[in-house]
Amino acid sequence: MRATQTEIEAAVDALRDGDLVAFPTETVYGLGANASDPEAVGKVFALKQRPVNHPLIVHIDDMRFLKRWVSELPPKAEQLAKAFWPGPLTLILPKAPQVLDLVTGGQKSVAIRIPSHPMARQLLDAFGGGIAAPSANRFGRISATRPEHVREEFGDAVRVILDGGESQVGLESTIVSCLESTPRVLRPGAVTLTQLRKLVGDVEMGPSEDSPRAPGSLASHYAPLTPLTLVPDAELDQMATELSAGGQRIAVLAQRMPKDIGPLITWINAGRRPLAFAHDLYANLRALDSAGCERILVQDVPAEETWSSIRDRLRRAAAR
Ligand code: TXA
Ligand code: MG
Repeated sequence: MRATQTEIEAAVDALRDGDLVAFPTETVYGLGANASDPEAVGKVFALKQRPVNHPLIVHIDDMRFLKRWVSELPPKAEQLAKAFWPGPLTLILPKAPQVLDLVTGGQKSVAIRIPSHPMARQLLDAFGGGIAAPSANRFGRISATRPEHVREEFGDAVRVILDGGESQVGLESTIVSCLESTPRVLRPGAVTLTQLRKLVGDVEMGPSEDSPRAPGSLASHYAPLTPLTLVPDAELDQMATELSAGGQRIAVLAQRMPKDIGPLITWINAGRRPLAFAHDLYANLRALDSAGCERILVQDVPAEETWSSIRDRLRRAAAR
């Protein structure tokens, strides 16, 4: 899905004026600012209500712009970049001296991604600079995968919202830190550990003691307002039925149809295919969160790698 020239010009004007632009990527929607304009980047933190020690990802159009942002591209990082960019991978790399502290949270590293969504590419190409963009949601809440989610989160506070339809992947990018000799996954995503290891050999999973901060890794994140519980398949129908018999309205996100449920239960069958489940996950959680229920029960997902990024987000959504 491509934007018109007029839409892209309006978005580029906003970025050049130091205003915010929401734009689609293949993972989730981003809330973007000119990464070289400290006041504009400040607006992202203010609007998201995000603590300033939580760094942002700089989105660029092409690897030839990397040297503006990073001081060094280790060989394994280069292999990963060439294999997976444009795409749902973010690399943590040593930062170039001029990168704003506000973007990096004062760290010596910077997060970089080249997204593949055609509209993101149009925007980056026309703008020419880096776009600092977190997911387009309020801090700690559910990411936006559709333009209407961005409007729900921010109303008219974002000058331009580019409508690129539904994000294809539906979950945030895989983040890989390339600061140590062995690359390390800080956030699982569509690019899997198996794919990474196939390309560069050893890859560590999860943050180390001296890993840079990644707020996507806070225990409680991506959370609906309604309390959410992960429930094993075998207990799901009975638990929903018992709670609803006690007068609670219950929302369920499952991978199958219900067996026999009461009238106070809202049930979404998101199916057994992990790619489709991920694509719809945040839209489904938003729908269930606004269904007026006291509890959200989510059927626990298979312990297979294809479900690992979904499991990660559901665990965080359940933590509070
Ligand atoms: O798919 C995505 O990555 C989306 C789209 C818009 O690109 N963006 C996104 O941004 O998910 P955000 O801000 O919600 O998550 C970015 C993550 C945060 O957990 C942040 O801490 C981490 O990237 N991060 C950014 N810079 C970092 C750095 N220098 N070191 C370690 N982690 C960093
Ligand atoms: Mg986020």
